[in-house]
Amino acid sequence: MEKTFIMVKPDGVQRNLVGEIVHRFERKGFTLAAGKLMSIPKELAEEHYGEHKDKPFFGELVSFITSGPVFAMVWEGEGVIGTARKMMGATNPAEAEPGTIRGDFGVQVSMNVIHGSDSPESANREIALFFNESDLIQYKKSV
Ligand code: CMP
Repeated sequence: MEKTFIMVKPDGVQRNLVGEIVHRFERKGFTLAAGKLMSIPKELAEEHYGEHKDKPFFGELVSFITSGPVFAMVWEGEGVIGTARKMMGATNPAEAEPGTIRGDFGVQVSMNVIHGSDSPESANREIALFFNESDLIQYKKSV
């Protein structure tokens, strides 16, 4: 089954949005395969955001994501990568549609509440960065 990496960022945790965000994914019909509240070490943040290392906001990005606890998760379900991106809304919350997570809860691009993998390759890479294989619940599938 398709899996994606979803992370409530430090602003979302601080604003008590973890439950709201988990609830949205549960109601949609996706299945939580792993989840943990954690502080991200600087090295992990730099690796996670490696594709942005030449961007002018890279330093700000790493310092923000390491500024407080995040809630890292793996969700699974049919089409979960693309559907989660739709549920999150545009990267810049100012442009995100109302009804999406960023559209409902965010204002600034640097503090945009949530991160989600943008492709199957990113999902595999990000899940492996944050979780061990043994952390992922293997749900029994009905035949
Ligand atoms: P995320 O989906 O976590 O992936 C990369 C992040 O970079 C993105 O969300 C934004 O939070 C952040 N980002 C993108 N553009 C900018 C910017 N211009 N200034 C600061 N942060 C940005």
